[in-house]
Parts: sequence; C-alpha cells; structure tokens
Amino acid sequence: MTSPAANAPLAVVTGATGFLGSHVVDALLEGGWRVRAAVRPTSDLRWLQGKPVRTVVPGETDDGLDRLLAEAAAVVHCAGAINAPDAAGYRAGNVEPTRRLIAAACRASELRAFVYVSSLAAAGPAVPGRPRAETDPPAPISAYGRSKLEAETLFGTQLPFRWAILRPPALYGPRDRAFVRLFAWARRGWTVRAVGGLREMSLLDGRDCAAAAVALVKTPTAHGVYFAADERRLNWHDLAEALRQATQRPVRALVAPVGVLRLLAGRGESGRRAAARWSLLDPEVVARLAPAAWTCDGARLRQDTAWRPQRDLARGFRETWAFYLDAGWI
Ligand SMILES: NC(=O)c1ccc[n+]([C@@H]2O[C@H](COP(=O)([O-])OP(=O)(O)OC[C@H]3O[C@@H](n4cnc5c(N)ncnc54)[C@H](OP(=O)(O)O)[C@@H]3O)[C@@H](O)[C@H]2O)c1
Repeated sequence: MTSPAANAPLAVVTGATGFLGSHVVDALLEGGWRVRAAVRPTSDLRWLQGKPVRTVVPGETDDGLDRLLAEAAAVVHCAGAINAPDAAGYRAGNVEPTRRLIAAACRASELRAFVYVSSLAAAGPAVPGRPRAETDPPAPISAYGRSKLEAETLFGTQLPFRWAILRPPALYGPRDRAFVRLFAWARRGWTVRAVGGLREMSLLDGRDCAAAAVALVKTPTAHGVYFAADERRLNWHDLAEALRQATQRPVRALVAPVGVLRLLAGRGESGRRAAARWSLLDPEVVARLAPAAWTCDGARLRQDTAWRPQRDLARGFRETWAFYLDAGWI
C-alpha cells in the first residue's frame, strides 16, 4: 500500500483495530488520506500491520485525546462495545468514550468533520414492508441499542464541526467474527430459518459500510443521521441461497420457531453454555430474532452522497467465505 502524500488531510479512526474500523482505515488510505488510529495497549494490531498508519494510545485523559486529534481534519468514531455483560457495560463502552471524544473534538481547532458509527439498534426494529427511516422516532429494544441512542443524543446543534451519524444494520464481511458460526454451519450443510419472528432484514458488507463512513467524511453537506443499506430487504431464503452460492454446497435450512429458541436459550449459566456452543442460542441473539423486521432505508445516504454499496449479498458472502477459509477461521 503506497503512503499518502505528506500534505494529505489527516483523519483519525477510533476502533481501528476492530472489524469495521479496520475497513474504514483501508477506505481512507485508498482515498489518499493520512490516517491516525486510536488503539489500546491490549489491542490486536493485526489489521493495521504493514499499512502507513500511525497508532496512538490516547487513554481517557484530555491530554491523550488532544494528542490524538491534533491537526486532524476528520474523525470517524468506530470504537464501541457490541458485547457487554450489562447496561452499565454498554454505557461505559458506547456513551462515555463518545462524550469524551466530542469534548476533545470541540478543542481541536482544525477538525471539520465528525462521523459517529451508531447502529440500526439505536432506532429499533421495523415493521415488514416498511424499513426504518431517519425521521421515525427511535425505539431501541436492547441495552446496546439504548446506549448507542444515548451516544447519538450527545451531538447537538452547538458543535463547532460538522457531524454525521451513521446507523448500519447488521454487518458481515472479511474480518467479522459474528457470522463465522453461520458459515461454519453452512460448511456442514446446515443453516437455520427462524419462524414466528424475524422475516425481513437489512445486511451490509463491512467494506461497503466503511465506504459509507468515508462518504460522510468527504461530503461537506452531509449532516445528521443516516442509515446505510442497499435497496434490497432480505429474508431467510435469501440468506440460505447466498450461503449455498458462497460455499458451493447444498445447505439445508433447519426450521426453528423463535419461541422454542427463546426457551432453549434460557438464562443464567445454562444459557451461557448453550450460547458458547451455538451462537443462535445466545439470549441476546434470540432477542434480536423476535421482531419481524430489522430493516432500514438507505435512501437519504444515497441522495446526499455519492455512496453506493458495491457488493450484493451473493458477492459479499462469497468473499467472506473465501476470507474465512484463507484465515483458517472455519
Ligand atoms: N458489527 C456490526 O454488525 C455492527 C452493526 C452496526 C453498528 N456497528 C458499530 O460499529 C462499530 C464497530 O463495530 P465492530 O463490529 O467493528 O466491533 P469490533 O470488531 O468489536 O471492534 C470494536 C473496536 O472498538 C474498540 N473498543 C471497544 N471498546 C472500547 C473502549 N471502551 N474504548 C476504546 N476502544 C474500544 C475495540 O478496541 P480493541 O481492539 O482494543 O478491543 C475495537 O477496535 C461499533 O460502534 C458498533 O456499535 C457494528
């Protein structure tokens, strides 16, 4: 990867060691940006290795955050807790770091754009046939979603920089660990079709989501809340078909009523043991399967920016499968 020009604009990425953040780093570098990545002493740096990226450990102090944002023209805030033991853990991972970063951004004189990666979970589920739009009142149903929404409310009209909030649906793609079990099951010839609950979903490749974040950085008129999604609403059949195409093998769907999954998932230690064996029995995953639709409408993002997703589910799953095999993850 060639190094960006010394006078190229500088973007800061938090959560740069994670699945989405590492793709945001790649997309910024491809766009000619200089990139500074916020990392922690414990972070696994594998996705940043060999790239012209400066890493900074800002910690939680004002000084550290000021050093992180010094001379930056833009920040993409991807860091966040997607798995926490309780509501306090989600707030600690999603609300407080965002509050501190916004305060530091207010002190950073050269900062022009702040993109916060939130989630469809902040808005809550949709109804079939009517994907969530930015104008719908948010109604999160999980501690995670509530913490992402609370972080969103920290952005106000008085901030001295342009800000945009990106709300992706569930993401899959190379480097993502959440979909590994789905692909591992498909390798054995099986997938699941939950009935009596979720029947419409938006899914997006993490690389397309990263491109959406960069489009919001680059578009001087982009401001406010944006869902990121293509126009297609997916169902369980689409998912099974994409798995069949990706794996090039027959994949049969095991029909599982959501109510039964909820009973099996249980609570406490037995729930945790079941979750460790089969991700679909994770009580949090089962809770996400209960609403009939997790869909969002990406029309505003497509209208306000040049962003268009580059991969449909078939291509995204094919490349994800190839990545998992190559990485030895399945
Ligand atoms: N994956 C999805 O399906 C999805 C969908 C919608 C929205 N999102 C949002 O996208 C963002 C990235 O998610 P992801 O899937 O890429 O997650 P991920 O792979 O778990 O990455 C999370 C990143 O955030 C960092 N991080 C976590 N807690 C932190 C804290 N308290 N302080 C500083 N850094 C912290 C992690 O650093 P370490 O490497 O040091 O642990 C890591 O770099 C999150 O904000 C999430 O809410 C994700």
